[in-house]
Amino acid sequence: MSSRSDEPVFPRHFVWGASTAAYQIEGAWNEDGKGPGIWDTFCHRKGRIFEDQTGDVACNSYHLWEKDLKCILQLRLTHYRLSFSWSRLLPNGTTDHINEKGVAYYNRVIDDLLANHVTPMITLYHFDFPQSLQDRGGWKSADIADIFDSYARFCFQTFGDRVKLWLTINEPQICCTMGYEEGIFAPGLQELGTTAYVVGHNMLRAHAKAWHSYNTIFRKQQGGLLSLALNSDWAEPLNPSNPDDVSAAKRHRTFELGWFACPVFSTGDYPVAMRARIEEISKAVGYDGAPRLPRFSEDEPPVLGSADFFALNYYTSRKVRAAGTSHRELNMKTDLELERIIDPSWPVCGVKWLAVVPEGLRKLLKHIKVEYNNPAIYITENGFSQIGPVEMEDIQRGRFYWDTLCQVSKAICEDGVDIRGYFAWSLLDNFEWSDGFSVRFGLFHVDFSNEEFPRTMYHSGKEYAAIISKNCQHS
Ligand code: GAL
Repeated sequence: MSSRSDEPVFPRHFVWGASTAAYQIEGAWNEDGKGPGIWDTFCHRKGRIFEDQTGDVACNSYHLWEKDLKCILQLRLTHYRLSFSWSRLLPNGTTDHINEKGVAYYNRVIDDLLANHVTPMITLYHFDFPQSLQDRGGWKSADIADIFDSYARFCFQTFGDRVKLWLTINEPQICCTMGYEEGIFAPGLQELGTTAYVVGHNMLRAHAKAWHSYNTIFRKQQGGLLSLALNSDWAEPLNPSNPDDVSAAKRHRTFELGWFACPVFSTGDYPVAMRARIEEISKAVGYDGAPRLPRFSEDEPPVLGSADFFALNYYTSRKVRAAGTSHRELNMKTDLELERIIDPSWPVCGVKWLAVVPEGLRKLLKHIKVEYNNPAIYITENGFSQIGPVEMEDIQRGRFYWDTLCQVSKAICEDGVDIRGYFAWSLLDNFEWSDGFSVRFGLFHVDFSNEEFPRTMYHSGKEYAAIISKNCQHS
């Protein structure tokens, strides 16, 4: 860990933010004309979420926005990243019906942020897909790309006079694998081996259409920037002198980040190694159906170049070891053939999957610089959770923000990575998907047992605020 004398340094216009997502904070799941989303359906079925909790009320941010705004101002954030609930704006997912109360809610949030000199960054889709579109096939169906594009155009038209930073889709890799292969996220499907690739493909097509719509119709007048938020761990070989482990670590990077980053930032198609690998495994298991990894059509807006910056969500690192399988089953595990290991020297705090490895972020940033043509990068999520009895004096989490930002500073100053901003996950403790409210990622504690849902700044929030006030040079 770095010492306090090792002060991080940031460029003059570095962006200081925190992130949230609609389903995780808003509540009001069926109020004021909102249509149901797949997370409503998923959580209302028993046995899916920790203690069968739901986001029905969550932090009640739909009714308590002023409290969230106070938190944002207390931290002195320059930027706030939130997501729109698609079905709050368009209850059945299409522009056939617009919910004016939903529009009014987000107008208010955006206007309040701007009145307080905070810049909004909006995610159009952060896991909470409209149920009525799911019932029509959702991301599996090819026509979703046009439906998403209409939703995006509606948002640019309605809010784009004030919103200048857009993200289309949050973490497509997580949506595809957890939602369609492993089934632990909504919509809870376990269609092994092919669906995740089809869903990912339609997400990329949808994203590219929305970027081109923005570029041709809105950019000139609105002058904003648009991307999609990609998640990635940092992966390195368990034994760097074992070539099998080296290729397994590469495969991990290819299938996690490369899957979405390569088409958008590098070649316009999936990584060559990914296509080759999927074909090889398909053959080995005797699969002779349609190619599992679809091809992009030349008749559609190109996916290459459809991003104005690189948005990265980073949480953790893994050591990777090659793990042979018998090649009998068609699923993503077989495609990957690897084991992910947490190095014993890495502290694991809060949730089990989250080994705290700030230096992994620096390595990943450097990798992105080299692999994806030195893009401007915003770190759109990064954080560290606590579980069990609440610790308001969360010294370790405070330290985590310091250590992480030291690594970001080194990536900028020593590695020459073009990093434009950092968004902590999350502003508030909130509904952490399958883990419900048992896992707390907030810079602010939320007391979910008190009907006023009071928000109180943790020690880690104070640490983050101190780093911001020391380094923020915005006027
Ligand atoms: C991300 C996700 C967030 C948040 C975070 C912490 O994958 O985008 O919504 O839950 O993980 O687990």
